[in-house]
Amino acid sequence: MRLDKFLAESSVGRRKIVRIYIKEGLIEVNGEVITEPSMDINENSDVIKYLGKVVSYTGKVYYMFNKPAGCITARKDKDHRTVFDFFDDDKMNGVFHVGRLDKDTEGLLLLTNDGEFEHKLMHPQEHIEKTYFFWALGSLDEENRKQLEQGIYIGKGEILTKPAKIEVHRCGMYKDFKHEMPIDNLNNIDSNQYNQPVVSGYLTITEGRNHQVKRMLKAAGCYVVYLKRVSIGGLMLDESMEKGRYRLLTEVEIKKLGIGRVI
Ligand code: URA
Repeated sequence: MRLDKFLAESSVGRRKIVRIYIKEGLIEVNGEVITEPSMDINENSDVIKYLGKVVSYTGKVYYMFNKPAGCITARKDKDHRTVFDFFDDDKMNGVFHVGRLDKDTEGLLLLTNDGEFEHKLMHPQEHIEKTYFFWALGSLDEENRKQLEQGIYIGKGEILTKPAKIEVHRCGMYKDFKHEMPIDNLNNIDSNQYNQPVVSGYLTITEGRNHQVKRMLKAAGCYVVYLKRVSIGGLMLDESMEKGRYRLLTEVEIKKLGIGRVI
């Protein structure tokens, strides 16, 4: 196995980062400083050290995280909690999030140290379906639903969105669904506006543009007040996992995604 691949799959850092470590002379193989990232090593018998500490091989890892609202999808942030604050630090050096969820979006987020897996999941040509559950202010008539399904303009200079699937779950008045809505405080609705129409449902998209679900629903006349990703490809969020918890994907789940290598 290549030295840079070994290090990336051993929680030392992402491929491009470990290449820098190698070039800077921070890596030893069997007591000798090696500066060539492509060097072939044997992960079972060679002793590899980073900054003098033995690196043990972990292999590819795939985590499912149930993201709570209020944290941002980033490694570090000076003002906000990030998704990495929910993980044990020492395991996560080479691990990165696959795509992003907005700060106020909840639900399924994958993290991995497998760059190929990330690339395939994120590549628009792979058409991997991502399904979001939403609550929004407004309503969706047949025409709006058709627009969402067939493609809709969501911003100046942007092309139509790719075909999507919309399934309406609830539609009616805020006063009737207020108790079902998983939001404590809707500060733009007061009791005088109890007759505000609301709608909930599932929107499935295959792209990953910025704030895409919110913008699609906005273009269809709705304002999203709650958003949660419930599935990616054939992989469903494990709802038995509380918000803020994570676990490794099982082999069956990795297979469901149809990409990545089974550990
Ligand atoms: N679409 C959005 O609008 N927000 C997300 O977090 C994910 C998809």
